[in-house]
Amino acid sequence: MDRIKVVELFAGVGGFRVGLGQASPRYRIVWSNQWEPSRKKQDASAIYVGRFGAEGHSNVDIATVDVRDIPDHDLLVGGFPCQDYSVARTLNQAEGLQGKKGVLWWEIHRILKGKRHKPGYILLENVDRLLKSPARQRGRDFAVMLASLADLGYVVEWRVINAADYGMPQRRRRVFFMGFHKTTPMGRALLQDGAQAGQWLSAKGIFAEAFPVRRPVPAPSAFTIDGDLADVSAHFNAGRTAAASPFRQAGILVGRTVRTMDVIPDHEGPFTVLGDVLLPAAEVPPEYYIGQRHLKQWGYLKGGKKEVRTNKSTGHVYNYAEGAMAFPDALDKPSRTIITAEGGPAPSRFKHVIRDEKGRLRRLTPVELERLNMFPDGHTRGIPDGRRAFLMGNALVVGIIKKAGEVLAARIAEGPVRGAG
Ligand SMILES: C[S@@+](CC[C@H](N)C(=O)[O-])C[C@H]1O[C@@H](n2cnc3c(N)ncnc32)[C@H](O)[C@@H]1O
Repeated sequence: MDRIKVVELFAGVGGFRVGLGQASPRYRIVWSNQWEPSRKKQDASAIYVGRFGAEGHSNVDIATVDVRDIPDHDLLVGGFPCQDYSVARTLNQAEGLQGKKGVLWWEIHRILKGKRHKPGYILLENVDRLLKSPARQRGRDFAVMLASLADLGYVVEWRVINAADYGMPQRRRRVFFMGFHKTTPMGRALLQDGAQAGQWLSAKGIFAEAFPVRRPVPAPSAFTIDGDLADVSAHFNAGRTAAASPFRQAGILVGRTVRTMDVIPDHEGPFTVLGDVLLPAAEVPPEYYIGQRHLKQWGYLKGGKKEVRTNKSTGHVYNYAEGAMAFPDALDKPSRTIITAEGGPAPSRFKHVIRDEKGRLRRLTPVELERLNMFPDGHTRGIPDGRRAFLMGNALVVGIIKKAGEVLAARIAEGPVRGAG
């Protein structure tokens, strides 16, 4: 059986590895890298090594890794850090590619560029806001990434996927993009079919097969990304304040031509919901229950409000309004997105709170958070609960990688799968 050699960047606790492992025994992780900036305790890396062993694992800043130390591989995967674009911040604060963390795109780029034998396939994940950022030049960051992949010889397909639309227990919308080197069978097929974006994005593509969409799909819009990377960065969608991003939920890039459209998920079931992942009350430690003393604060934070607030540092007075959150969270629906601040007892608007079978309110335990991301129970055990929640807020829904990985493995013909240098 032919192995598909994989490198996992920004590995976290190994969401890609778990998903690919479930998809096919052909996937073999040959090298992985995970490093948490400015933290002495490297929890994610420790969990990774604890689950998968230390062989081929690197726990240093990716920026310090020599490309020659990364083994040749067929598939490069990674959910690169999303803090600059994440939903926890507003678009205006996001720094995008110019941001401190956003620069890590250039580490992926450096590795792809530096490899004489480039991986034939790339699978990357990010928050869907990537397609729209930054606020003053919508879509620029994604345009720069696509242009740089095209220049390295890749054709690309992308899709915004909400895990819950395909029966998974969490509403988590992320953009997934898959690059095929133009020398691979998939790359050649997409090059040939480039003008038939509708066909590719509704039937022939990896994502269309793994995550079906309603057909027929709308006609795509088409445009080219012109200029070198600095031009793209300076001029893409510039000078048109409030112009929308041209990148829709599904798209392909062939050469420098983009074809893109919105699509509607088509999944008949089964569906899983928050109630399906809950532990019986007897297995939940007492500290997860919300005491009478804190109930009012939880209620206030979760509630809708319209109030006058004063900015503490500038003294600026402004009107503040936000709608109510479901409190407690509905058990008969998929959960809201887990964010990194999910852990710890302090009341919060965004942490999940459920009413258990005895009518008591409580937060979610680490195992329940793992289940919402479809990790095996106890995957992150061995570190404090708050850190386990943090790592789940950073991770992905493993079921997405499993489905995409199954289709990809079936498409990668037996035999050498590597792209050209
Ligand atoms: C969005 S998370 C990816 C999580 C992963 N997909 C998982 O399943 O757990 C990004 C990861 O990149 C790591 N990271 C951030 N900066 C890094 C750097 N300079 N070098 C290596 N890893 C880094 C973060 O610690 C974080 O674990």
